[in-house]
Amino acid sequence: MAHQGDVEEPGLSARRAMHSRRAALRIAAGTGVAALAAPTVARAATAGQPPGGPIVKPLPPELFIVHGSNAETRWSALRHVGNIVPADRFFVRNHTRTPRIDPGAWRLRLFGTGLAGGPFELSLAQLKALPSETITARIECAGNGRGFFETQQNQPVPGTPWRLGAVGVARWRGVRLATVLRAAGLTRGAVDVMPSGLDDEYIVDGVNLGRVRRPLPVRKALNDVLLAYEMNGEPLPPDHGFPVRVVVPDWIGIASVKWVGAIEVSATPLRSPWNTRYYRLFGPDYPEEGTLLTRQNTKSAFELDPHTEFGVGRDHVLHGRSWSGTGGVARVDVSADGGRTWSRAIPRAIRDDGWHRWSYRWRPRRPGSYTLSARALDIEGNAQPLTEPFNTEGYLFGAVAALPVAAS
Ligand code: MTE
Repeated sequence: MAHQGDVEEPGLSARRAMHSRRAALRIAAGTGVAALAAPTVARAATAGQPPGGPIVKPLPPELFIVHGSNAETRWSALRHVGNIVPADRFFVRNHTRTPRIDPGAWRLRLFGTGLAGGPFELSLAQLKALPSETITARIECAGNGRGFFETQQNQPVPGTPWRLGAVGVARWRGVRLATVLRAAGLTRGAVDVMPSGLDDEYIVDGVNLGRVRRPLPVRKALNDVLLAYEMNGEPLPPDHGFPVRVVVPDWIGIASVKWVGAIEVSATPLRSPWNTRYYRLFGPDYPEEGTLLTRQNTKSAFELDPHTEFGVGRDHVLHGRSWSGTGGVARVDVSADGGRTWSRAIPRAIRDDGWHRWSYRWRPRRPGSYTLSARALDIEGNAQPLTEPFNTEGYLFGAVAALPVAAS
């Protein structure tokens, strides 16, 4: 029961907690300096590797298509789920393998020329004591749809040949990165922050590129980025970043560093292979130095597997989703004849929350093969194109994706 005398001005207790937390954290930071210098500390927090493979959670074939260390959500597995994708079917993108991290030993270390007062360190308990926020956000790999460069445009590209299942929407709870940066003494001169993961170092063709890390402009970091410790109301599952991951709404998935262990805060621009060699658009349509990727583009998918069979002469309600990293989705059109004719899909909710869900009534009149396509128009009036300009790594395939189905 609440007593009158217990009532405080809204926000006051949070501010007080914040104030004392800053003092406590500053003390903690002082004790963390020596550990920071030792590159083996993060490894000590990794309690062995999972015995079974690079991904810990079960990957039943009715929910996932496995590509090496990555697992793609089957779109048919989203047919009976709402906006939020449960963790059991959320796609996994691992450069190496899911590490097992001891939450008691975990520390988040902030360091760099963009901090006043030197390095700063937080335990999980200290992070959880800070004011928390819950957001609905989509995470999508920049390579989602990559497979269509080859299958639809005859342009083979290296990398995971995702169809459209490297995307998911979840509720993330955690602390705003802005709160932690400010507590750590962010300076006005800071320009970039670079979170790095505690998973194994990434080795390509015998070259060690180090831990997965990618710079983020301070402007974005202060805007809507979360240090998340819960996914859909539960502690983060191991594959999705336990104990803490970064969630960068609307940006390509690589920005949302999992198993975050350190954040460099810099007064000069930062570089890593993940913003120089990877996650840039290279190719004939792009400048020599490539175009840096930040936001996601617009895509659409049916909640169906390819080659699904439908009964002839009967009505079928097809369900699907469209989403956009550049703003909302204004409308979606569907074609069942390979793009010759289009009709408007019916939105399933008034308000988008992570994505725009829609349905479409279809009656195949003759037996045979059909091609289903969905095409979204974003709120700025950009429609998904029919072809995507080639880029060497196969990022951001945003063209209309053809889905072959059959009627009998
Ligand atoms: N963070 C670390 N530490 N290691 C990784 O391999 N993969 C990134 C990002 N964060 C990755 C990472 C990529 S490319 C994507 S698309 C997302 O995590 C995928 O998040 P998920 O596996 O939770 O779906």
